[in-house]
Amino acid sequence: MLSKKMQDAFNDQINAELFSSYLYLAMSAHLEDATMKGMARWMRLQAQEEMEHAMKFVDFIGERGGRVVYKAIETPQSEWNSPLEIFRGAYEHEQYVTKRINDLMEIALSEKDFASQVFLQWFVTEQVEEEANADEIVKKLEMIGEGRHGIYMLDRELGQREAD
Ligand code: FEO
Repeated sequence: MLSKKMQDAFNDQINAELFSSYLYLAMSAHLEDATMKGMARWMRLQAQEEMEHAMKFVDFIGERGGRVVYKAIETPQSEWNSPLEIFRGAYEHEQYVTKRINDLMEIALSEKDFASQVFLQWFVTEQVEEEANADEIVKKLEMIGEGRHGIYMLDRELGQREAD
C-alpha cells in the first residue's frame, strides 16, 4: 500500500509527465509550422514517450492499491525564436524532470518504500538518456549556427527517429 504522501507525489508526477507531453506537442507544432518536419516528428515521438511515462505511474499507483487523480494541465509555451531555443528548452525541461524524479526517490527512501524505489530506478536511468539526447541535439545546433545546410541535414537526421 502506498502512503498518502507517496501517492500524492506520484499523482503530481503524472501531471508533470502529461505536461511534458503537452510541451513537446507544442514544440512539435511550432517546428511543423516552421517546416522542420523531421524535428517536428522527433518532438511528437518524444511527446508519446512522455505519455507512456505518465501511464507507468498510473499503472504503478493502481498496482499498489492507490488512487489516481488527474489535475489540470498547465498551458505550455507556444512560440520560440529558433530550433536551438526549442531544444535548449527541452534540455532544461528534462533537467527539471530529473530533479523531480530525484525528489520522488528521496521520499521513497525516507519512507523505506522499497517497491517504489525499484520502480523509480527505471526513471533515474531513463532521465540520464533523456538529458543526453536533448543535450546532443543542442550541441549539434550550436555547432551548425545559422548554416541552412546543416539545419536541413539535422532535420533529416532527426526525422528518422523510430517510435519505441
Ligand atoms: Fe518523462 Fe522526458 O521525462
